[in-house]
Amino acid sequence: MCGIVGYVGREQATPIIMEGLRRLEYRGYDSAGIAVINGSAVHAVREVGKLKALRARLEKEAPRGTTGIGHTRWATHGVPSVANAHPHHDCTRSFMLVHNGIIENYAEIKDELLHKGHVFVSETDTEVVAHLIEAFYSGDLLEAMLSSMRQLRGAYALAVISSHEPDTIVAARCGSPLVLGFGDDFNLVASDASAVLSHTRRVVYLDDHQAARLRPNESAISDLGGNRLEPKIKEISLNLSDIEKGGHPHFMIKEIFEQPSLVSDVLARRISPATDEIRFSETRDAELGLETVKKIMIVSCGTAYHASMVGKYYLENLARVPVEVDIASEFRYRNPVVNEETLVIAISQSGETADTLAGVKEAHGRGSRVLSVINVEGSSIDRESDATLYVYAGPEIAVASTKAYTAQLLSLALFSLYLARKRGTIEPETYDEMIGELRSIPAKMQWILDNHETVRTCARKFSNAPNFLYLGRSYNYPNALEGALKLKELSYIHAEGCSAGEMKHGPIALVDSTFPVICLVPDGKVYEKMLSNIQELRARRAVIIAVATEGNEDIARHCEHVIHVPRVHELLSPLLTVIPLQLLAYHITINKGLDVDQPRNLAKSVTVE
Ligand code: M6R
Repeated sequence: MCGIVGYVGREQATPIIMEGLRRLEYRGYDSAGIAVINGSAVHAVREVGKLKALRARLEKEAPRGTTGIGHTRWATHGVPSVANAHPHHDCTRSFMLVHNGIIENYAEIKDELLHKGHVFVSETDTEVVAHLIEAFYSGDLLEAMLSSMRQLRGAYALAVISSHEPDTIVAARCGSPLVLGFGDDFNLVASDASAVLSHTRRVVYLDDHQAARLRPNESAISDLGGNRLEPKIKEISLNLSDIEKGGHPHFMIKEIFEQPSLVSDVLARRISPATDEIRFSETRDAELGLETVKKIMIVSCGTAYHASMVGKYYLENLARVPVEVDIASEFRYRNPVVNEETLVIAISQSGETADTLAGVKEAHGRGSRVLSVINVEGSSIDRESDATLYVYAGPEIAVASTKAYTAQLLSLALFSLYLARKRGTIEPETYDEMIGELRSIPAKMQWILDNHETVRTCARKFSNAPNFLYLGRSYNYPNALEGALKLKELSYIHAEGCSAGEMKHGPIALVDSTFPVICLVPDGKVYEKMLSNIQELRARRAVIIAVATEGNEDIARHCEHVIHVPRVHELLSPLLTVIPLQLLAYHITINKGLDVDQPRNLAKSVTVE
């Protein structure tokens, strides 16, 4: 949802800002722009479309100067156009500003400013902030920012530069992420640490209602009242190689192929090799009341919501706790019955999803404890929660979530077993069996990756199909939803996911001979039921692609195509059956010549509600 970056130092700012924007492009790519101070003038260049369009412009007219800001946009207010692209400016063009978030009261502020004679040139909410700063400025950019912040409602991460103070960037945060990077003779600001990593590892994550003034050799952080705060400096543990493609053509395929090693690493971290005990040092069990909790409510969005659905099956089956799952944007507005006796679990890869963050605040407001299941350490949801369980997927850069999903499933399986053990709801033999099955997952995932020729064949055959249906039951019902989401968000093919049992209550009306139906049928309790559903579909001439257990010869008699996954305990089967679905969406998208890492209209972290 927009990426912002700023540099102030002794080097030319443009290349540093452009490199930062390249790292942040996953946050939005409707337009991009930079502004750099050169003497007493500010030079801005903005282009519609992906960063490469701006890069091409800059080859002809790269602004020179050592203080600058940049932005990559995911449009909220106003279509993607040069006029709506950031940086935005005031009437005098002496203040240039970039913004990530939404200013909710922009219309009323705009009316007041129009009344005072300010002239607006864009349709954005952001532009009001540039004019507010102009109105408040009386020789101190930080003071003007603080005065403006007191007027603003909504979410923002802001960075502003001004020709009045050529060696200064002022940044501010409320609800949208912002990190300051400290170097020798330079300072940086960015939406996330990946954009500063090639220059420094020393960072400070700004908190809400804080602002910072950065100069080459100086940084000052203050609260809304203007009181100076001590910076809490952290070292980034990320490596540059973690955020590069590492020889793969796209981030998505790199991330799909990382899944076996990521599962291995998490298992090694979580399960004691000596005792097979699962370790969760960070869950603060007593404080969260894990042993006695009466109800769990899971809130999340998108792919994380599908992981939450699997989590419900895990927690209920293993730990015997009643679990409700809700889409975060619904949870917040439906007056949910949660209280001190409910544990709310928030699941999010980025830890920045605005609806999930709002859900966490809502849960706290109702007296619940919040455990978050997060990939990005230090993110807003991480900091807002009572305890966080990290999924350790590493940086996920492709907009479509893949490895974070399997990391979430794995963490939920481990956590459910851990809870089951604590609550005495699992037999020792079952626990031991599950640990053994978990340890077999990395090799089985690798087998799927090494043997996915049928997936490629199906991708070639069905790339031009206008519709797909995905069906699953029990543990694999959420994967049917996830498979459909992957396909539609990447290839723009209409795809629906459905519980196989629900199919005959409506969706089956869609099916004809042009309709590929992906059926998730690993061996397990619902196998026979799935076979009956397949027969019902075949009677309507649907084309069936089955994802089934290796060694099952019978299934081929009922389907046009069979994609095999190794045998595993059915509870863990979603960790395997999802991989062919990820690969299918990837290959179909590549066949269609589309941008697999940056699909249209999407952004990696959805930091607006
Ligand atoms: O960062 P989060 O896990 O909170 O993000 C949730 C969704 O925005 C995300 O999963 C989205 O649905 C992806 N595009 C799915 O691939």
